[in-house]
Amino acid sequence: MPPSRLVYRKPQPTDVQRLFAIFGDPQTNLFNPAGPMPSLSAAQRLLDHWLEQWATLGYGWWAIARVEAPDHLIGFGGIAPLNYLTQSRINLGYRFAVEAWGQGYATELARDALVLAFDTLGVPEVFGLVRPEHAASIHVLEKVGMQPFGELDDVPGKAPSLVMRVCRPTTVHI
Ligand SMILES: CC(C)(COP(=O)(O)OP(=O)(O)OC[C@H]1O[C@@H](n2cnc3c(N)ncnc32)[C@H](O)[C@@H]1OP(=O)(O)O)[C@@H](O)C(=O)NCCC(=O)NCCS
Repeated sequence: MPPSRLVYRKPQPTDVQRLFAIFGDPQTNLFNPAGPMPSLSAAQRLLDHWLEQWATLGYGWWAIARVEAPDHLIGFGGIAPLNYLTQSRINLGYRFAVEAWGQGYATELARDALVLAFDTLGVPEVFGLVRPEHAASIHVLEKVGMQPFGELDDVPGKAPSLVMRVCRPTTVHI
């Protein structure tokens, strides 16, 4: 395994401005039918939701930085439960600042989140939900082993989102 280039931590209340800067940027929402996050109060609501998940589950989306600049957040992502296709699913998601794109960081985050899911939490499967035209994000999910699982008709009048899934690798005992 190559050395980790990223550090992860639980989000904290003071992250709200950085969260809004990243989630409110139109560039980071090119494929998001809801568009960029509209306000700092919306960022506060999302952060509160994440912190509730952390308090309840002991894990959730991470705040992400580079090892060499741990105080400068470059994105948010990880695994958390999300309800769709009739049940709660452990879902992998990510949103990185534009400055951090194209360096393999989303793939590294996705791999590390799957290690948490499979090795630490022992969940049997992890899902990803992505718009069908978002080739880069689909590619990230494929690189960590996700395959098509189904579709979710979540945007009225538009093509359905793709639901991808990867199962926990089985250990073979000989
Ligand atoms: C999508 C996103 C997460 C990708 O992050 P990233 O750190 O640049 O991703 P990585 O570098 O790990 O991998 C991207 C892969 O997609 C490829 N890629 C990039 N743009 C592409 C495109 N338009 N079409 C096809 N593949 C593309 C890259 O070449 C790379 O593959 P490679 O490693 O085989 O060369 C990032 O752009 C982002 O945060 N966007 C805004 C938020 C978002 O869209 N989140 C996902 C919602 S489902």
